[in-house]
Amino acid sequence: MTRVRVRKAIIPAAGLGTRFLPATKAIPKEMLPIVDVPTLQLIVEEAVAAGIEQIIIVNGRGKGTIEDHFDVSFELERTLRDRGKKELLAVVERISQMVRIVSVRQKEPLGLGHAVLVAREAAGDEPVAVLLGDDLYDCDGRRPAIGQLIDEYERLGQKGVVSLMEVPVGQEQLYGIVSGKVLADAPRTMHIDDMVEKPAPGTAPSRFAIVGRYVLPAEIWDILARTKPGKGGEIQLTDALKELAQKGGGCYGLTVDGTRHDAGDKLGYLGANLAWALKRDDLRPGLLALMRRLVQEHN
Ligand code: G1P
Repeated sequence: MTRVRVRKAIIPAAGLGTRFLPATKAIPKEMLPIVDVPTLQLIVEEAVAAGIEQIIIVNGRGKGTIEDHFDVSFELERTLRDRGKKELLAVVERISQMVRIVSVRQKEPLGLGHAVLVAREAAGDEPVAVLLGDDLYDCDGRRPAIGQLIDEYERLGQKGVVSLMEVPVGQEQLYGIVSGKVLADAPRTMHIDDMVEKPAPGTAPSRFAIVGRYVLPAEIWDILARTKPGKGGEIQLTDALKELAQKGGGCYGLTVDGTRHDAGDKLGYLGANLAWALKRDDLRPGLLALMRRLVQEHN
């Protein structure tokens, strides 16, 4: 197979978002904002900053707002122009010009592996990046998280790469967990020899969890197509990656240089909002004063 650079990214966005009900009753959880930017836009911006040229969003039912968000908004843009709101107009126009976005539909919630497989035709059997909307990385001043994985994929000779994080004891059952050997010449990189999706308490092979970013070689497509339902009766990306690691071209884990926020969890989501707000000159002083007041009130 000819070698193709990673040009396309898949963003699965078909989940029901039950953890954020009732906010997510009519709004996809991917559209919940971090300050004033939808989480999905942050993820798209990460991919674009890493050099991705096309985004494939895997939608579920009722996700029209996602398509609308990345489309031209003729009326809104005209109104902003008529009212002389140049800065806001630039913000809105930039979104639809950012990158080429296509969406495909996952008709049934059959798992993350299935969601990725649904994007196969749009990906044209190329290697792909996968970014999960629940995991936000703050890599200010450094290469974006998915860019760090793409660099490692190239450096290792186009092998699968997943992002890893050591999680606290007792949290292993929330994640795909890997085991393997850290490379002597690259302490952030692990050669993976086993993987298990959400291991039962006390059975995890390590505390290294997969956290929301993947670079998959083209070989993954045929593996995914034959991956049988696993944990929870769903087709698991972790199971396909295990086959890649053990019987295919190999798979590595990279501890990303940056801070990860779990925006799929209520506290993690609030933390991401605070972290992003504190980076902004227009919000930092006011937010710090507000937090001091709240801390005093609640002590
Ligand atoms: C998915 C994956 C899991 C991974 C996690 C966090 O699980 O299946 O392997 O560790 O994302 O990125 P989910 O949280 O969607 O249930």
